[in-house]
Amino acid sequence: MATTLRDRVEELSPWFHNIELPGGISTAPDHFLGDYPRFKYDRFAGALPDDLTGRSVLDIGCNAGFYSVEMARRGASRVLGIDADERYLAQARLVTRELGFEGVEFAKLDVYDVGALGEKFELVVFMGVLYHLRHPLLALDLIREHAVSDEGAGGLMLFQTMQQGSKAEMDVPEDHPFFEPGSVTPPRYFDEPAYPKMHFIERRFSGDWTNWWAPNRACSEAMLRAAGFTVEAHPQNDVYLCRVAPVPYGEWGPGAVYPAGAKR
Ligand SMILES: C[S@@+](CC[C@H](N)C(=O)[O-])C[C@H]1O[C@@H](n2cnc3c(N)ncnc32)[C@H](O)[C@@H]1O
Repeated sequence: MATTLRDRVEELSPWFHNIELPGGISTAPDHFLGDYPRFKYDRFAGALPDDLTGRSVLDIGCNAGFYSVEMARRGASRVLGIDADERYLAQARLVTRELGFEGVEFAKLDVYDVGALGEKFELVVFMGVLYHLRHPLLALDLIREHAVSDEGAGGLMLFQTMQQGSKAEMDVPEDHPFFEPGSVTPPRYFDEPAYPKMHFIERRFSGDWTNWWAPNRACSEAMLRAAGFTVEAHPQNDVYLCRVAPVPYGEWGPGAVYPAGAKR
């Protein structure tokens, strides 16, 4: 008996991306978040360039390829999706074949290995991956160094992370005094809810043991700055459109923001 598209979708389940395929087939119609990620994308899509004609896009942690397809729809000439999980890549290949985006390529690659691509991209999509990583700042550093173009005005990164804790911002001190001024009591700024904080999730979050970290808003933004990105748009609470900026480490060049030798 011939395998139908519905059978193939079933074989590749469970799906995290609900994607509408020909014949009215949805890959995850009962998704716990609803029509995900379509409803989320609709809320921030306006912040992205409408026309990506001739541009290159790297979709890191591409899952079933929802964002890869959307970037191809905007005219990107090269779209590469990478993911550490072969099962999701099989979903992505099915999706692009069925939707007629055969030009989109997929490869099994860990974010920590982006340097192996030997290629930089004008737009990097890094959505929903950071908090799954044991080494999130390393991943941002590697993306900044190896994956986002620094030609011309510099490449863009569309970034999303789960966040927990305060949504407030505060001016972090230029230096961090060891004691409260004029006393020998420990400084209080670390206890401010708005101070950049990364919550470490030792055990499962929402039943999922692959969630390791949950930054608050200030921490997400501080990490982006520390890795060499500037935020150009913040279209949703947890979504940032960033552009490459000078890496704030001293001896790395004339654009250095921090003193030479700091933070290496
Ligand atoms: C929560 S999903 C996000 C999918 C998609 N980017 C989105 O925003 O809807 C996380 C994805 O990242 C992938 N992933 C997790 N760790 C990874 C790693 N170290 N390198 C590459 N991909 C990874 C997972 O396999 C999964 O497809």
